[in-house]
Amino acid sequence: MRKISLILLSAIAVAACVRNTVQTAPSFDEVLSSRRSVRSYDPAKTVSEAEVRELLLAVQDAPSWANREPAKYYVAISSEKRNELLGMIGGNKDRVSEAPVLIVSTFEKGKSGFFGDRQTNEIGDGWGAYDTGLSNAYLVLKARAMGFDTLIMGMRDSEAIRSGFGIPESETVMAVIALGYRAQDPKRPERRPLEEIVKFF
Ligand SMILES: Cc1cc2nc3c(=O)[nH]c(=O)nc-3n(C[C@H](O)[C@H](O)[C@H](O)COP(=O)(O)O)c2cc1C
Repeated sequence: MRKISLILLSAIAVAACVRNTVQTAPSFDEVLSSRRSVRSYDPAKTVSEAEVRELLLAVQDAPSWANREPAKYYVAISSEKRNELLGMIGGNKDRVSEAPVLIVSTFEKGKSGFFGDRQTNEIGDGWGAYDTGLSNAYLVLKARAMGFDTLIMGMRDSEAIRSGFGIPESETVMAVIALGYRAQDPKRPERRPLEEIVKFF
């Protein structure tokens, strides 16, 4: 009888431990509402190459113009390359100096919005930028779903980045995106009233 009680108690203890350690995945709404631009990262936490690969595989599910997939990524994960890139993002450096990964986002020109050499409408390579924004939206949201935080940075030296990462002239350098874990919870900046940005007909 004593033996059975001991086994039962152990089973209950194990179940309690499992319940406390297994985290449930956040809902889509939780991902949307908890994603913030994070400007202070936890220096004690790292992100592995395998995790970045998982993230970018999810990003490949983003839609793009005629499925052209113009978005490309250059991942600075070694401390040497990361430090080099920190020197190319101006005043953003202090905000992301502890982020373990920095990702340069580019797109291939003349792909989205083009059939052969023919530009299909007035947007031209704007469709490449559009697709890249979509991909990067997938990136920051998937990152949040994986428990990471991000900062998209448009303030960066594109020519220094082009030469530092060997990015060809056939690509446009867009943002640098920091990836890591938040050191503190940022506030949600105010948004415009819906009435200012939407018209129903
Ligand atoms: C294209 C783009 C460029 C941005 N560039 C910078 C930047 O250089 N530095 C920075 O601190 N934040 C940058 N941000 C972050 C915005 O300031 C931020 O998204 C906005 O204030 C809303 O805050 P939230 O992301 O927390 O919702 C950028 C965001 C986007 C989408």
